[in-house]
Amino acid sequence: MKILVTGGTGFIGSHTAVELQEQGFDVVIVDNLSNSTIEVLDNITKITGKRPVFEQFDLCDQSLTADFFRRHNDLAGIIHFAAYKAVGESVEKPLMYYRNNLQSLMNILEGMLANNINNLVFSSSCTVYGQPDELPVREESPIKEAFSPYGNTKQISEEIIRDTLKANPQLQAIALRYFNPIGAHPSALIGELPLGVPNNLMPFITQTAIGKRPVLRVFGNDYNTPDGTAIRDYIHVVDLAQAHVVALNRMIEKKMKKNYEIFNLGTGNGLTVLEVIHSFEKVSGVKLNYVFVDRRPGDVEKVWADTTFANQELGWKAQRSVDEMTLSAWRWELRLAGKLND
Ligand code: UD1
Repeated sequence: MKILVTGGTGFIGSHTAVELQEQGFDVVIVDNLSNSTIEVLDNITKITGKRPVFEQFDLCDQSLTADFFRRHNDLAGIIHFAAYKAVGESVEKPLMYYRNNLQSLMNILEGMLANNINNLVFSSSCTVYGQPDELPVREESPIKEAFSPYGNTKQISEEIIRDTLKANPQLQAIALRYFNPIGAHPSALIGELPLGVPNNLMPFITQTAIGKRPVLRVFGNDYNTPDGTAIRDYIHVVDLAQAHVVALNRMIEKKMKKNYEIFNLGTGNGLTVLEVIHSFEKVSGVKLNYVFVDRRPGDVEKVWADTTFANQELGWKAQRSVDEMTLSAWRWELRLAGKLND
């Protein structure tokens, strides 16, 4: 069965391509390589022994996307990752975010409708909850006004999918709201490869530890949390990738309760920034150079997932510990630096 993975050379996309191939799916990747490199394809191939079909183009291009779908009208499903995701950049360049994240989704939905392709897994985010009133946060929790244009693109995308499905009940979609994916494949062949200065915590930690960055700035130690640093629900990227395969199978096997379902993907366990740092220091043996600075504008204080619905309905549960997350991220950084001795 053939599956399209958009953004399949990116961080989560590449891990999902691996899991799909390991479960016998044929993967077609579309990526414009705006935030990833073609070497990822070689490394997916090294891990799985199978090279995904790859096409490089921009899904915002309506005619290229329509042409792609005409040539691949036998797709059993689509997992749509391709999107911009930097919160700060989205505040500076909102139109770039709206155009990229929404236009590509609409082109894909049109391609699906034109070719009777009915199954879509969509990459959403816990950012749609903002700072929730109640924790852990459940899928039914109210959607709060988005903190950033990036977050708003995820809210609007979920609505675009909902309305399209209402009008076309033969379509099925699952939106997966990720909490904070970190870590890397145990082979250390694929991982998170931020271009330029990382925005996210885990790559900043590993780049500081390897010496690429002088110091990690911890944004805020005056939050209302046990150690004063902000709380997130970090989830191993391999657990997250596996959830996509489960979601896809649920659609293919017609096990959905309604044609649009939404699931939280997290561990259900909140960790402070300092807890992540301490795990990293323990598994790597490296003492991290960090300083406390002011809170980062737009950051929420704490958020973690209620995973009951995903656990019960998908029969999926995140398995990997924080130490496995930080160790795999470190092994990936070591391999990039040519310092991994296996
Ligand atoms: C945010 C969004 C998430 C989005 C992701 C993409 C929320 C709740 N989450 O994640 O939906 O997919 O961006 O980029 O809106 N930190 C530091 N120092 C650093 C970097 C981060 O202390 O150098 C802290 C942050 O303040 C935060 C935690 O680490 O408390 C995690 O930050 P980050 O990895 O950037 O993810 P989020 O901001 O939670």
